Amino acid sequence: MKRLLAVTLAAVSLTVGASEGLPPIQSVDIDVFDRDSVRRGAEFYVNYCQGCHSLKHIRYSRLAADYDISDEIMKSNFLLGERKMHETLQSAMKPEDSEKWFGAPAPDLSLAARARGADWIYSYLRGFYLDPSRPTGVNNLYLPNVAMPNVLGGLQGLQQPVISHEGGMEFVERLELAKPGSMTPDQFDEALTDLMNFLVYVSEPSMLQRLPLGKYVLGFMFLLTYLLYRVKKEYWKDVH
Ligand code: HEC
Repeated sequence: MKRLLAVTLAAVSLTVGASEGLPPIQSVDIDVFDRDSVRRGAEFYVNYCQGCHSLKHIRYSRLAADYDISDEIMKSNFLLGERKMHETLQSAMKPEDSEKWFGAPAPDLSLAARARGADWIYSYLRGFYLDPSRPTGVNNLYLPNVAMPNVLGGLQGLQQPVISHEGGMEFVERLELAKPGSMTPDQFDEALTDLMNFLVYVSEPSMLQRLPLGKYVLGFMFLLTYLLYRVKKEYWKDVH
């Protein structure tokens, strides 16, 4: 029965994969307690994403407090233009302008790591490839006919698709680096991992308090179980 179920499930997932024709997403190791990584990710975000995307659920002051970022660093690296500590990380670009310039609004990314998952965003940002038929010159493996330009192309380099033919259909089998960027593939993956740690933190800042609390609660439960066990032993000692 179990085997039958496994075979059925495998068949279902195969057909789903085939019908979408998208390559599997890659996974990224998330650690929101790695302070240096989240700080680097936040700076990366401000430099490369905030031009178009907002994070309306997080304030600069909260970020600074949660990750011990000094006022000087906040001023020099985060509070671009006239931005203030109590404000949220809004983009200067309005959604209407994004629609006009790129053909689609750049969505708020506050909850993106929860809605799409960090693995998906990580794969998406690594999934841009050259496609002269598109107005931006690029396409994306995970969001076909994407409106977002390849903003990280200078860092990652430009990727060329390796096309496969199967049953009269064309699909992108994998991507190959055609022109190297300013970062090596490892450096680029690290920068994206930092960025994902930041976006996962942003999607639920209270996680920083909740996760350690969970450990205490579990520890307390274990202790309680042990104590109750001892009490039970004590009670039943004379019966056995
Ligand atoms: C030049 C403007 C611009 C910049 C800079 C930019 N984006 Fe985008 N982004 C867009 C637009 C426009 C879309 C909408 C794409 C679409 O719907 O086809 C988008 C879509 C996305 C999506 C997909 C949302 C979804 O679920 O469909 C994610 C995730 C994303 N961007 C992340 C980022 C990250 C992370 C950065 C920084 C590395 C970044 N973007 C930088 C314009 C931009």
